[in-house]
Amino acid sequence: MTEQAATDGLARQLRAARRWAGITQEQLAGLSTVSVRAIRDLEQGRVRHPRRETLRLLADAMRLGDARRAALELAVEGAPADTVMREAFGAELAPPPEPLRRLVGRTEELRALTGLLATEHERLLTVVGIAGVGKTRLAQEAALLLHTRDRMPVLWVDMGTAAPAAGSARSPRAALTAWARSLADGGPGLDELASVVRDRAALLVLDGHDAASRPAPQLLELLHSCERLKVLITAREPHRTPGNRLLPLAPLPLPAPEPSSDAATPLPGASLSAGEPAVELMLSYVGHMRPDLLPTDSVVRTVARICHALDGVPRAMESAASWLLLHSLEELLRIARTSPLDLVDDATLSDVNEEGLGAVLAAAVGRMDTAQATLLGDLGALADGWTAEQAAAVLAVPAATVAREVHALMLRGLVRRLPAEAEGASRFGVLNLVRGLAADRAAAAARRSAALVH
Ligand SMILES: Nc1ncnc2c1ncn2[C@@H]1O[C@H](COP(=O)(O)OP(=O)(O)OP(=O)(O)O)[C@@H](O)[C@H]1O
Ligand SMILES: [Mg+2]
Repeated sequence: MTEQAATDGLARQLRAARRWAGITQEQLAGLSTVSVRAIRDLEQGRVRHPRRETLRLLADAMRLGDARRAALELAVEGAPADTVMREAFGAELAPPPEPLRRLVGRTEELRALTGLLATEHERLLTVVGIAGVGKTRLAQEAALLLHTRDRMPVLWVDMGTAAPAAGSARSPRAALTAWARSLADGGPGLDELASVVRDRAALLVLDGHDAASRPAPQLLELLHSCERLKVLITAREPHRTPGNRLLPLAPLPLPAPEPSSDAATPLPGASLSAGEPAVELMLSYVGHMRPDLLPTDSVVRTVARICHALDGVPRAMESAASWLLLHSLEELLRIARTSPLDLVDDATLSDVNEEGLGAVLAAAVGRMDTAQATLLGDLGALADGWTAEQAAAVLAVPAATVAREVHALMLRGLVRRLPAEAEGASRFGVLNLVRGLAADRAAAAARRSAALVH
């Protein structure tokens, strides 16, 4: 690549950015305090290496987003953006983030997800489920598998964190990420990203894409332009759009509940935990927090009960285990059963800027409409293991309404399916973590309507 060609890139990028901003060279000069002559020299390729500060003034004046800024900066460094990007997006250089810990369970879910990602027809998939259920962790594992097995480049975009400050996207990879993020938010970046991905088999992961209720049209256009690209989204609520395959992710499987009769002989801990991922994961968290607690039958039994109270939701269990610095295992069980939300905000690990799980769950219940929240409250008052038909009869609600609402609640992960006896009807339970929130919300709605009547 000659220097001339590279700087043509800068001149072209600058002209394109100014046209995008819809201003003349004179107006840009006025807004940026850079002289008209300097702008002309840059746009005609006579000046090839402007100072970074000059470029920043121009970018600020044109109100450029991350993606266009990155393209300008790369062009200044003598590297035409598209070539650098294509190289950076090769299979070796584009791995997904490395998971820090072993994946527990999820064999079936991983097989289903990677199977879908390997087919030609499924191009847009959304893993959906409540906060902390393990959507990101599952997506990481699937992306890693495609990357190592099929040498697929992966562009991983963490949509949950704030976008880096404008102008900070220096590396090609950061620029690619900035384009993808901008595009997913409905902004520019389509042409830039499409010119890098082209007809390559690649995976774009939009992790924690919770702000939008449906994928941006630009994302669908990108899929049209790049025929072998797949997009995997993780989100707490379903994104509804034609062609988007929803994959609801339930919490980790729990052991069968213990017989309620006091007379029953307690089962040995080992058989309670046998092969149950929720207990296995919780035992590993407990072991890290309290290495002195050996996994005796009694410890395993208590841990299994705690898992039940926390619904097998990994983040809830991880946070609860952090409270073992303060509480004994028995105390933890008592709190988990009476007020599980007191344990779900991590005592030691969470980032101070991160919203706690309790607040996220409260917001999810708060967003529901009154009728839906009231139904969730009513369902939460039933003993676990109801069928849709039984719920309809007890609550005197039409069966079709219950079926529709339970379906919607399951998609959002607020209701879980319980293991059914063979051939029996599906049985459900409201997550213990949201039961109290739903009851409070339903009670508040009832008080409001009573006040309106009086
Ligand atoms: N199957 C699993 N095995 C081991 N650890 C897990 C598993 N699932 C989740 N975790 C851990 O639990 C925590 C929460 O999981 P994760 O971040 O994937 O949840 P999420 O569904 O993406 O939540 P959010 O909606 O808040 O983004 C993480 O620390 C993750 O590593
Ligand atoms: Mg996540």
